[in-house]
Amino acid sequence: MHEHPHSRPRKAVRPGRRQRHTVHLATLLLLGSGVAWMLAHYLLPLPEDAARHPLEPWAMRAHGAAAMFGLAVLGSIWTTHVQPAWQRGTHRLSGGGLFLLWGVLTLSGYGLYYLADESQRTTSSWVHMACGLILPFGLVVHILQAIRARRHPG
Ligand code: HEM
Ligand code: HEM
Repeated sequence: MHEHPHSRPRKAVRPGRRQRHTVHLATLLLLGSGVAWMLAHYLLPLPEDAARHPLEPWAMRAHGAAAMFGLAVLGSIWTTHVQPAWQRGTHRLSGGGLFLLWGVLTLSGYGLYYLADESQRTTSSWVHMACGLILPFGLVVHILQAIRARRHPG
């Protein structure tokens, strides 16, 4: 590769196969449950006498579990991927952007649990949905960059 005589060899920063799969899975579960909620809340016709669609609470039960799983996955790649990759300095924009999205989603998701003020809650909800819909694309961009860089190193 492109070693300089005085630098240490580059550490591999690509997450292992298992870790890559758990990242994909967590993102899919979050997206699936989040989109299911949005469909139930905004689009699906209400069954008779129902104040809200019965899919809604189930989607959020799944989503809360996916969020906990997702944060554990993020934690699992923190010292093995995020830190060393950041120090190496490649793909900082897409990787850092991805990390930032997770941060905003975690904070706005927390807000959805605990904000009592209705207008603050609404803001948190819109910020959360916007970032949530961007997140999967952010991951895809990040992955495509990694694949491209491996094909054309240097
Ligand atoms: C693909 C990414 C995501 C999408 C599409 C998404 C979508 C949504 C939607 C539509 C809601 C309901 C909004 C509302 O009640 O007004 C929600 C709630 C929530 N989300 Fe996400 N989200 C995503 C990622 C995340 C992540 C990464 C976390 C945290 C690690 C998270 C944590 C939460 C929490 C805690 C709630 C509140 C749960 C509840 O009210 O029961 N979400 N999300
Ligand atoms: C915060 C800064 C980050 C930086 C600088 C960064 C940098 C990189 C780099 C350089 C690669 C290519 C590794 C190689 O092929 O040798 C990579 C791959 C990858 N990154 Fe990141 N990353 C960051 C954050 C993240 C986050 C937060 C996630 C997940 C939520 C993530 C998920 C991945 C995955 C799944 C791959 C493997 C792509 C593939 O080849 O299939 N990264 N990252």
